[in-house]
Amino acid sequence: MRKPLVAGNWKMFKTREEAQRFSSELVPLVTGLSDTEVLICPPYLYIHQLVEAFEGTPIQIGAQNVFWQDQGAFTGEVGPAMLESVGATYAIVGHSERRQYFSETDEIVNKKIQAVLSSSLHPIVCVGETLDEREQGKTSTVIQNQVMRGLSQINEKQAQALVIAYEPVWAIGTGKTATPQIAQEVHAHIREILSRLFGKTVANTIRVLYGGSVKPDTIDALMAMQDIDGALVGGASLDVASFATILGCKG
Ligand code: 13P
Repeated sequence: MRKPLVAGNWKMFKTREEAQRFSSELVPLVTGLSDTEVLICPPYLYIHQLVEAFEGTPIQIGAQNVFWQDQGAFTGEVGPAMLESVGATYAIVGHSERRQYFSETDEIVNKKIQAVLSSSLHPIVCVGETLDEREQGKTSTVIQNQVMRGLSQINEKQAQALVIAYEPVWAIGTGKTATPQIAQEVHAHIREILSRLFGKTVANTIRVLYGGSVKPDTIDALMAMQDIDGALVGGASLDVASFATILGCKG
């Protein structure tokens, strides 16, 4: 059985005070939540503060990005060892916004995944096609390339720490959630690729999350699908009430 994982990706939103208010409002709502693993990925600046604020609750804190070295002369970057040292447990890698605005290629994504897997953190590896690619019938190829190249040189043992997130680019921030059927089809394909890479037993333990306009009213139908093991939530994770409702839907 794969334990569902619901992760909030705050992107570049919230001041320190807003992050503080969010945590103090969410803490009382999440006690007793045990069937779902819950993660919040704030901007780096608030990771430490939120780890402390959520101590003793089921909520874990992760990063939205990570560098592929633990230390060195890499101005502006943050490595896996630093994230570990402030209590983060996950790092999102290869989000489509990183690929689009910061020129992250599958090769860079692969280096970051390898670095994260050498630490105690779990990478959440994002893949997804653009609207153009979908309309041209290229979805399967794009997903296959991103997964295969991103996970190159990862072995079966390391693969057990992986989380994959399918985030169709056309569904991110647009209000157009993929239908559960569309998402399930791609998730099943991702699991098939994982089976080929790591064997069926390992592939069956890897969680594949869906992301792209997940809202309180779309989460249930998505989670009902066989290969959807959780969600990566952007906009709806910024609001305590809507994030709590999304979590409660799985409780
Ligand atoms: P939205 O939920 O705002 O569409 O964002 C999805 C996303 O990119 C999560 O990583």
